[in-house]
Amino acid sequence: MDKNLIYLKNITDERGSLIAIENSKEIPFEIKRVYYLFNLASEKPRGFHAHKELKQLIICINGECDIILNDGFTTKTYHLNSPKQGVLCDSFMWRELCNFSSNAILLVLASEYYDEEDYIRDYDTFIQLTKGDRND
Ligand code: TYD
Repeated sequence: MDKNLIYLKNITDERGSLIAIENSKEIPFEIKRVYYLFNLASEKPRGFHAHKELKQLIICINGECDIILNDGFTTKTYHLNSPKQGVLCDSFMWRELCNFSSNAILLVLASEYYDEEDYIRDYDTFIQLTKGDRND
């Protein structure tokens, strides 16, 4: 079992499928913000940052993409191609989002309001902070 991969309960009948996500139930945080990414250029990867506090669940609700998570020690690539699974991106996780299909739409559930101060955008700083040098 991969603790960062969340399988969402799918309620399907002859009319189609429905997935519900509730605060602190399917995901280990309360949702303060929701945003989505669309019209993504497959050759333009995104992310390249970590967060000090923010936790997120990233769901590829349409199409497919790759999400690379790095906790400062190990790196893992998740290929997302189903609205039934999400990747949990905890604080102090460097993330890269790439290889978007032309129809990819990513829904992101976030634990905090947008705050540029919460970003770590420099990779060397991220590595320093994850090697036991945190000042939080
Ligand atoms: P950023 O988080 O850097 O995008 P990505 O990780 O997908 O590469 O955000 C891109 C821009 O959008 C940046 O200028 C900040 C802005 N932004 C907001 O204003 N509010 C938000 O909730 C988010 C996620 C980004």
